[in-house]
Amino acid sequence: MASARIVIDPAFRVGSIDRRLFGSFVEHLGRCVYDGIYEPGHPAADADGFRTDVLELVRELGVSTVRYPGGNFVSGYRWEDGIGPRDQRPTRLDLAWHSTETNEVGVHEFITWARAAGVEPMMALNLGTRGVLEAIDLLEYCNVPSGSTLADQRIANGATDPFGITMWCLGNEMDGPWQLGHRSAEDYGKIASQTAKGMRQLDPSVELVACGSSNRRMPTFGSWEHTVLQHTYADVDFISCHAYYEEKEGDLDSFLASGVDMDRFIESVVATADAVGAGLKTDKKINISFDEWNVWYNVRDKEKNTIRGLDNWPKAPRILEDVYSVTDAVVVGNLLISLLRHADRVRAASLAQLVNVIAPIMTEPGGPAWRQTTFYPFAETARRAVGSSLRLTLDSDTHQTDAYGEVTTIDVAGSHDPDTGRTSVFLINRDHGGSSTIEVDLTALPDATVQDAVLIADEDRHAANTLDQQDRVTLAPLTSYTQDGRRLTVELPPLSWAALTLA
Ligand code: AHR
Repeated sequence: MASARIVIDPAFRVGSIDRRLFGSFVEHLGRCVYDGIYEPGHPAADADGFRTDVLELVRELGVSTVRYPGGNFVSGYRWEDGIGPRDQRPTRLDLAWHSTETNEVGVHEFITWARAAGVEPMMALNLGTRGVLEAIDLLEYCNVPSGSTLADQRIANGATDPFGITMWCLGNEMDGPWQLGHRSAEDYGKIASQTAKGMRQLDPSVELVACGSSNRRMPTFGSWEHTVLQHTYADVDFISCHAYYEEKEGDLDSFLASGVDMDRFIESVVATADAVGAGLKTDKKINISFDEWNVWYNVRDKEKNTIRGLDNWPKAPRILEDVYSVTDAVVVGNLLISLLRHADRVRAASLAQLVNVIAPIMTEPGGPAWRQTTFYPFAETARRAVGSSLRLTLDSDTHQTDAYGEVTTIDVAGSHDPDTGRTSVFLINRDHGGSSTIEVDLTALPDATVQDAVLIADEDRHAANTLDQQDRVTLAPLTSYTQDGRRLTVELPPLSWAALTLA
């Protein structure tokens, strides 16, 4: 049995937890938009065609910001296609996902949905096949109250009030050769800087995200961030990180240590950004927007998700519809632990994606909407991690992994909310062969007792929720803990994630 000791002291803080850490992502991809958030004929659809059962689940998930409209999709997107009377909107071929885009949903509909969901919109701009002017035009269309042709066009299209969009992504994964309009770091850095300057001339309140690397294994990782930030440091607020993880045949240990990769990714990008800042002799800090992260069976299911044929461009195809297991939920819980641990510099993040496409929420056309296993660690972390992220002391047994070398068997993050006095602890047991015992030193929290504690674990680590068995995996109460004075002892079952809140 592995063991670990943790010391919690609310005096030691990483930083405040920005609510934007619990963002998500809606892309025009597969059934995320059409037959996902939007299905006009569905019995639960509202007057705008949005599924209210999905909206309810989005609220329950606790999502703060939602990035839109892509992803790879955005690099071939003309935003003007999605405005004006629906019957006059063009039908386009989306090259990123080899699908037909009807443009029934565009920026107006997305803003209507975001308001209904109570989330902050985060817009991605096409800097792949379009440029500075189209980006500024979209900003003017969205944020200028009235008096210009574009602002008045928005009003004529039904939106009297400006959309007031603050967060903007300057392109998507521009380092990736798969990206339409893929550029070198030098070329991207220049266009990102010019776009940012133009956008700020129009609306100085915008917060801008420059594209970082699509993952830590990209051959240009490191040098990409360095070059891009040398061009954009004064112009942007964030650099993005994207990362997807999947279990490789016979290497469960490395998969369960995906959070270690995320830690190293974040810390390398922070080091690179700070080095550029130091070279520029500025005190300004660039933060991270980890605006795509999740488990995604991308390598394993590549063929299944690839559509081909000049005469084959389906609408809302069932692609990237990963069914998540208990193991995947534990890994997602660990990725959230990593994000929380770096809350001082990761000030925004987006679980990719929200509905049907590598998503915590699944739907069936005309049928139900349900929670995947990964819904639970996200919702519980978003709900409990309030206030400050804590700098915890962890002394854990370790084990070897092929991908990341020696890793701790237990991982942990914590939060403390001074307003309510609540402290939350998030734990995972990476040992899939046995339980682990964790001793938590509560000396610095003299009156704290556990108020409630939940667990994700199962005899069958492959168990998942499906249309036929929508609640096969849910949260269970965690009962395997004892408190003796200032010492809390938690026993975690094999391969598990848990959250405890003390008050
Ligand atoms: O989220 C799926 C895809 O992953 C996004 O479109 C792209 O940005 C990334 O490669």
